[in-house]
Amino acid sequence: MPASRSDARREGSARLGQGFLWNSWYVAAVSGQLAAGELLPRQILGLRVLLGRTPTGEVWALNDRCPHRAVPLSAGRTVRGARGEDLIECPYHGWRFRTDGVCASVPANADPDFTVETIRVSAFRVVETHGLIWIWMTQDRAEPDHPPPVIPGIVGRKPLAVATIAYPVHVDHAILGLVDPAHGPYVHRQWWWRKPTRARVKSKAFVASPLGFTMVGHAPSESGRLYRLLGASPVTEIVFRLPGLRWEHLRLGARSVLALSAMTPVTDHETRMTQIVWSDFGALRFLAPLVRFAVHRFLQEDEVVITAQSRDLKDSPPFLWVGDADQQARWYVQLKREWLASRGEDRAFVNPVKARRLSWSS
Ligand code: FES
Ligand SMILES: [Fe+2]
Repeated sequence: MPASRSDARREGSARLGQGFLWNSWYVAAVSGQLAAGELLPRQILGLRVLLGRTPTGEVWALNDRCPHRAVPLSAGRTVRGARGEDLIECPYHGWRFRTDGVCASVPANADPDFTVETIRVSAFRVVETHGLIWIWMTQDRAEPDHPPPVIPGIVGRKPLAVATIAYPVHVDHAILGLVDPAHGPYVHRQWWWRKPTRARVKSKAFVASPLGFTMVGHAPSESGRLYRLLGASPVTEIVFRLPGLRWEHLRLGARSVLALSAMTPVTDHETRMTQIVWSDFGALRFLAPLVRFAVHRFLQEDEVVITAQSRDLKDSPPFLWVGDADQQARWYVQLKREWLASRGEDRAFVNPVKARRLSWSS
């Protein structure tokens, strides 16, 4: 039976809101959120992860579950081993684990022939780079086949602002909100951002980029009053990349502002969004408290509407995809589908995005 027009518009919706992209790097935390000696429990792609940092600064991540009787290791504490190394001690029977997951001691064991090192908690691969802690999420113990993404514009500077928020939806729906250009005038109505009056038609060029697409460098929309504070002729480039990263890189001559949004699935109905802003722009450093306030407000505004949306998503209602305003959402669906297909068929990823100009009113 030929697909009807409305079927075509609903392209991909059956897959929406289901599953995760495994064997991928996700932002587990921002470096500043994890001090040496601290334990940071997180749920990521449904798995319980315990993040920690050794006294010498290395980040580690273990399954947050004691293999003895499933007590969260995050309820325990860190103790110092005989060689000064960090050990994680379970609060129930005091089993201790090294930061690579190998058991170091089972206090109740009186059998001298028992080798405690045969007991292990599974460890996750983690990489800390440019102030971000990336975690490799795999279901089949696959080793990373690519490094964490390199995001241009982060040059080791301390972030200007970090904000996290939990959206009560599957990561797919959170991402559709992230790549949606049409909700701004309705959801984000701050006086300093844009006038809530007339929308304007925008036309932007897009190209395929690694695992995603890029809105190529252009002058940011004049309606952004905050941008105008920064000075003349800025150029901004916006990149989306699987599994759930979007960054906006604003350049003013030698200086830049980079705003990264990282979506990390918590469960199949919760997503943590981490928003980080870096800048070497002097005026913005000075305005840091204002920037932090603005970032929080933005995230909260999205949270209000996404929470309202979450009410009926469990029924997987069909979505309508209309015009160029929804094209980035369609691309996300296509990218996800191609990513899953290429992994399933053990072949190279072929980016489904074709360079084109998109026009919408917002
Ligand atoms: S449950 Fe962890 S040591 Fe027994
Ligand atoms: Fe938004």
